[in-house]
Amino acid sequence: MTIHIGAAPGDIAETVLMPGDPYRAKWAAETFLQDARLVNEVRGMLGFTGTWNGHPVTIQGSGMGMPSLSIYANELIRDYGARTLIRIGSCGGMQEHVALRDVVLAMTATTVNSPSSGIFRDLNFAPCADWGLLRAAADAAGRRTVPTHVGNIYSSDVFYDERPDLNEQMVRHGILGVEMEAAELYTLAVRHNCRALAVLTVSDHLLTGAALPSDQRERSFGDMVEIALEAAFT
Ligand code: ADE
Repeated sequence: MTIHIGAAPGDIAETVLMPGDPYRAKWAAETFLQDARLVNEVRGMLGFTGTWNGHPVTIQGSGMGMPSLSIYANELIRDYGARTLIRIGSCGGMQEHVALRDVVLAMTATTVNSPSSGIFRDLNFAPCADWGLLRAAADAAGRRTVPTHVGNIYSSDVFYDERPDLNEQMVRHGILGVEMEAAELYTLAVRHNCRALAVLTVSDHLLTGAALPSDQRERSFGDMVEIALEAAFT
């Protein structure tokens, strides 16, 4: 057990999928894993372990934002031996060609500030995905019909961000979408010699204001979970 995860030693698989929302962890485990069992419910941040095609997999909620993700990813890696961590979550689209329900594979994750920023001081570290996972995820996406984009995303700890023209600069510089966790996950993974990737579904759009109704979210999110699982075991 750790401070934030109540799982017994050996209850967490080496491959961990991390949605922000603990109830999405429950839905994904019940929908995609065999023999899924609850392994963590500390603070309601649900985690489940089961198998996918015979491979052990844990699906553990990360909470929202990089400070929360950092707690769970640190404990999963350092205390439970997780080696492959794939964020599955939503993002807000930031380019005209990125539509609601599309999948975004985050090759890199730009950020203004993360829990790791302090250790880099003047260095603009560029958090990037594990290449093998990214390539496998792009191949898995290519076998499906869902439109998929690969590129740079923006990880922000501020959902209601009032900084003037920040979004405009992101759009100008080709950022595909905004979410709140990937940059810190990538940074922690490389620090601890692990593999990480973020597979995202576009749930809303910053240019149009469009958003997926909640009853349509689950159906769109299925592609993302399957892409993540296929990539993990390629
Ligand atoms: N996740 C999904 N949509 C988002 C948005 N608009 N901003 C930040 N994170 C998000």
